[in-house]
Amino acid sequence: MNVLQTRRLTKEHGAGASRVRAVDEVDLDVPEGQTLAVMGPSGCGKSTLLHLLGGLERPTAGEVWIGQRRTDSLSERALARLRRRSIGFVFQAFHLVDELSTAENVELPALLAGRSLREARRRADFLLDQVGLADRARHLPSELSGGQRQRAAIARALANEPQVVLADEPTGNLDTAATTDVLRIFAELRAAGQTLVIVTHDERVAATADRLISMRDGMFVDDTRLLDGTGRLAGLIGLEG
Ligand SMILES: Nc1ncnc2c1ncn2[C@@H]1O[C@H](COP(=O)(O)OP(=O)(O)OP(=O)(O)O)[C@@H](O)[C@H]1O
Ligand SMILES: [Mg+2]
Repeated sequence: MNVLQTRRLTKEHGAGASRVRAVDEVDLDVPEGQTLAVMGPSGCGKSTLLHLLGGLERPTAGEVWIGQRRTDSLSERALARLRRRSIGFVFQAFHLVDELSTAENVELPALLAGRSLREARRRADFLLDQVGLADRARHLPSELSGGQRQRAAIARALANEPQVVLADEPTGNLDTAATTDVLRIFAELRAAGQTLVIVTHDERVAATADRLISMRDGMFVDDTRLLDGTGRLAGLIGLEG
């Protein structure tokens, strides 16, 4: 089953002479459990594609499907609800809520989805433990390192057991050690069958994927399966085991 699907997906920004086709008639199928890396030069449309996939932006034309649901034609309200329940976003700049503790940041999506405080807390405890932040639960984001903030943001993205995690340059602000931590978490998610789409400039990140798509000018110019999804390349660069 495909978790994500697009048909002739197109997004144009701006008007008149400055009109840009950021995503140009893209057809994409992402099967359940796949880790897909998307690479390409600055401005080729990677973030726009991710935003369209996750319903943060509306396409100019074409279709987006999440599971069995077509999302580009949903009302704002229905789309917000679907985003909350089905999509986990991870951004380069973390986007944690500064006034909330690490644990509260991770509880928030579950609470917004209507879960009880008790359930939200239990899930947050579990996730913070998974990403190695159990002892930072009461800290504010400003009291965390960059790598810790991104791990908290990943925990938050997983709060509602999303159908897909969409990550835009998740290691773009991180040093090598913190990148290794984040890649280890992605490798664990991949092993657990989480569907992941990661936009990245980092070869190390791309090497952990099952599939690599290269974009130019809003289009896919290459689409390669990496090592039959066995993750051997990830093993070679020391991210597994
Ligand atoms: N809100 C906007 N208004 C007008 N043009 C935009 C807007 N957002 C993006 N663009 C344009 O759309 C194209 C694709 O931008 P996008 O941010 O998707 O690229 P990207 O591949 O993510 O680049 P980067 O690697 O620098 O993050 C670019 O030409 C950009 O200038
Ligand atoms: Mg971008």
